[in-house]
Amino acid sequence: SVEDCEVVSLQKIKNNSGNITVLENNFDIPFEVKRIYYLYDVPMGSERGGHGHYELEQYIIAASGSFTFILDDGTNRREIFLNNPSQALHIKQGIWREISNFSSGSICLVLASQNYSESDYIRKYEDYLKYRS
Ligand code: TYD
Repeated sequence: SVEDCEVVSLQKIKNNSGNITVLENNFDIPFEVKRIYYLYDVPMGSERGGHGHYELEQYIIAASGSFTFILDDGTNRREIFLNNPSQALHIKQGIWREISNFSSGSICLVLASQNYSESDYIRKYEDYLKYRS
């Protein structure tokens, strides 16, 4: 459910000349990372996402700037504002997500548990609700 999708604090190696956050497979992430991608150059006012996944789990990081994730499990909706590169939103399996309010120059970094597969997407909300019911 959306209640299981937590914002986790990541370690931060602090230094006068800047910070480093490290994510290592099997240590800092509760799934094996198979794929990394990032959203950038998102025009103001754009909305992305608008789909569910059957199996995919993701760690979502606001590497720069901010945006809002709307999570939906067919029963409850939750809005999560991300603006901190030392935090990650863990989206669990079977969740519908929408993304909005991208700040200018923002970068949405995604660590994913599966390779890209269109068959893992649920593109229509109507189909998502059927799957959850
Ligand atoms: P999609 O996941 O629908 O975008 P968003 O949720 O950010 O709005 O992906 C947009 C397009 O990019 C879609 O046609 C599939 C393609 N794509 C890949 O080919 N590989 C990938 O790993 C991802 C994430 C998307």
